[in-house]
Amino acid sequence: MRKKIVAGNWKMNTTVEEGRKLAAEVNSFVVGLENNDIGVAIAPPFTHLTEIAKSIDNDAICLTAQNCASESRGAYTGEISVGMLKAAGVKAVILGHSERRAYFREDYKTLAKKTDLVLEQEIKPIFCIGETLDEREAGIQADVVKKQLSESLFHLQATSIQNLILAYEPVWAIGTGKTASPEQAQEMHKYIRLVIAEKYGNDIADNLTILYGGSCKPSNAREIFSQADVDGGLIGGAALKAEDFGALISSF
Ligand code: PGA
Repeated sequence: MRKKIVAGNWKMNTTVEEGRKLAAEVNSFVVGLENNDIGVAIAPPFTHLTEIAKSIDNDAICLTAQNCASESRGAYTGEISVGMLKAAGVKAVILGHSERRAYFREDYKTLAKKTDLVLEQEIKPIFCIGETLDEREAGIQADVVKKQLSESLFHLQATSIQNLILAYEPVWAIGTGKTASPEQAQEMHKYIRLVIAEKYGNDIADNLTILYGGSCKPSNAREIFSQADVDGGLIGGAALKAEDFGALISSF
């Protein structure tokens, strides 16, 4: 059975103190849950990680980073290595978020390198893919997503790809209040699973968790999460309020 996951991407929001409070609220919600089959992850900014690792139940919540360096150490001013993240208690790293691709020019090759480094440290990549509005309007969304997968991930062995989580995030739905319809999400998730199956076989494809991301909120999550190939969500804005994030976790 595929793991269902709700992951909160806090982006560049909250101070350490605000983050600690938010994490504590999420933590008490999660430890109080009767159904603990749902994986919960939070991705605070780098500066918060050590502090938050100390204040949450790290078995109940997967502490996640929003990014990492594409080198393992050395003279890379301002960068944070996967080893540093691991030492801080991080268990997963978001890679290839569309904001990183668009604003920081992260290309296929860089993302492939980052993925390798993350997997080497036995940390889970949450690897994001998704098309822009122009690409969807041109009808090339499937090709775009397939290329993102093949260029950055298909060098991986089957044993490695199994340790990955994918997140389909149509760029036009991120932070815009415009969600993909449940049908659009399902169609793309099914396609992504097919592409994985063609390369790695049905077993691996069937067991891969594929999250949906883009303006998920308590009011629309239930319908999206109930689609056959949608295994949860990567949540931005709605992850900044414990109440909303809790409602999203309860959407299954
Ligand atoms: P959003 O962000 O939920 O605010 O649209 C999702 C994401 O960027 O991961």
